[in-house]
Amino acid sequence: NTSLLVLFLCRFKTFPCAAVEVKNEPILGFREGSKERLELEKALQNLKGKTEEIPCVVGNEEVWTKDIRYRLSPFNHSHKVSKFCYADKELINKAIEASVAARREWDLKPVADRAQIFFKAADTISGPKRADVLAKTMIGQGKTVVQAEIDAAAELIDFFRFNAKHAMELEQQQPLDSDGSTNTMLYRGLEGFVAAVAPFNFTAIGGNLAGTPAIMVRCQVLFILYSALCNTGCLINRKITMLMLHKSSIITFKRLWKQVAQNLDIYRNFPRVAGECGGKNFHFVHKSAEVRSVVTGSIRSAFEYGGQKCSACSRMYVPDSLWPQIKQQLLDVLRQIKVGDVSAESFASFSRSRLNAYQRLTDSKDPEIFGPILTIYVYPEKDYKKVLHLIDNTSPYALTGAIFSQDKAVIDEAGKALRNAQPFGGARASGTNNKPGGPHYVLRWMSPQVFKQTHVPLTEWKYPYMG
Ligand SMILES: *[C@@H]1O[C@H](CO)[C@@H](O)[C@H](O)[C@H]1NC(C)=O
Ligand SMILES: *[C@@H]1O[C@H](CO)[C@@H](O)[C@H](O)[C@H]1NC(C)=O
Repeated sequence: NTSLLVLFLCRFKTFPCAAVEVKNEPILGFREGSKERLELEKALQNLKGKTEEIPCVVGNEEVWTKDIRYRLSPFNHSHKVSKFCYADKELINKAIEASVAARREWDLKPVADRAQIFFKAADTISGPKRADVLAKTMIGQGKTVVQAEIDAAAELIDFFRFNAKHAMELEQQQPLDSDGSTNTMLYRGLEGFVAAVAPFNFTAIGGNLAGTPAIMVRCQVLFILYSALCNTGCLINRKITMLMLHKSSIITFKRLWKQVAQNLDIYRNFPRVAGECGGKNFHFVHKSAEVRSVVTGSIRSAFEYGGQKCSACSRMYVPDSLWPQIKQQLLDVLRQIKVGDVSAESFASFSRSRLNAYQRLTDSKDPEIFGPILTIYVYPEKDYKKVLHLIDNTSPYALTGAIFSQDKAVIDEAGKALRNAQPFGGARASGTNNKPGGPHYVLRWMSPQVFKQTHVPLTEWKYPYMG
């Protein structure tokens, strides 16, 4: 149908595609007496003893099922942070239908219009809602102010802005035209719906998982804002759009992938499964390393947020020559760290503990130890090449790592030896390396289509060689 086709192409081509300027959201300092600190203190005060109600939302309708649950504050189990409910099968199916029904129109909206919604959401979180989002992340997930700031403010805002920018800029990548015909790439959203399973530990990731696919697949703005404003524990029982996406432990991810595969025969499209799991961040210390950097970098990485980050350092490889010094300094710092402060307002603590953390760690069947535990392997200084090999082969994970050395040749050598051991975004058991926030991430949620339009009639069926 040519007229329809032309309409389509016009809309697409007349749309101005200038580069979109966005910057990283600044990370605020929260010094005593600062404006941001006062606002945060007020927001924390407002949440004292409060329980936020979080219904399921299907289409535009808020629904409560009978299966009511509570999210408890990790450092005060008598504080019910939120009340939510589990959706049942029927409700989930309804949500999928609502989402698929809305998709068609949404997909035809210019990307710039869709992106605008995300820019606006980012501005709202950066401005009027910032203190509230931070306070909820601190109380709901047990984060210190700086951990909440880098997650719920900086990273979430960056995700929204950069992904929207990248979606707009992708449209500039168009195929070449050839004689007598015009070629156009349409960056369509995926056909179907996306199901996102958010982790308990990151507001930014919850927001990104549910949000970014929506730039392409379907409008869920209320949902995104809402989820960005609550703690992420509730996301799992809320419907989202299109196929399957996950961020959690490797055991859960494998189970979901198998379940998806089992139903392969009934899908209209091949499902895309994207997952990011844990890591076992390694710190490789060469004899040429600067000891203070090793110590401070490792303390922060291993122990902030109680070691509950995918990037938490869990193994450290130290040359015997530096070990006495490093050990002494690690112990000195550890003695000064304030952990497990239960008052939500305290700004002095470095990390917080979860009340049931020890039990969770000792009961866990997960290969990943998810807590403030750092193992140290001391090696004979001259054997560092063997150690690089050992690091590459010790863990099934490949997410993050650090090389501490002041010797350029060693850094290059280690970089090559560990090339497959750490792409942030995940490889091996750490996930499907999607690079959230990078220019290629939005492509995961698209199904690009090329249109060729011929302007010259085709009059001859014979090829020239036929004479
Ligand atoms: C824990 O939460 C309960 C319920 O909101 C509250 O009454 C109590 O003061 C809190 N305890 C502490 C130590 O903050
Ligand atoms: C969140 O927690 C899970 C464990 O439940 C862990 O595997 C994952 O790496 C964590 N995510 C991040 C971004 O730290």
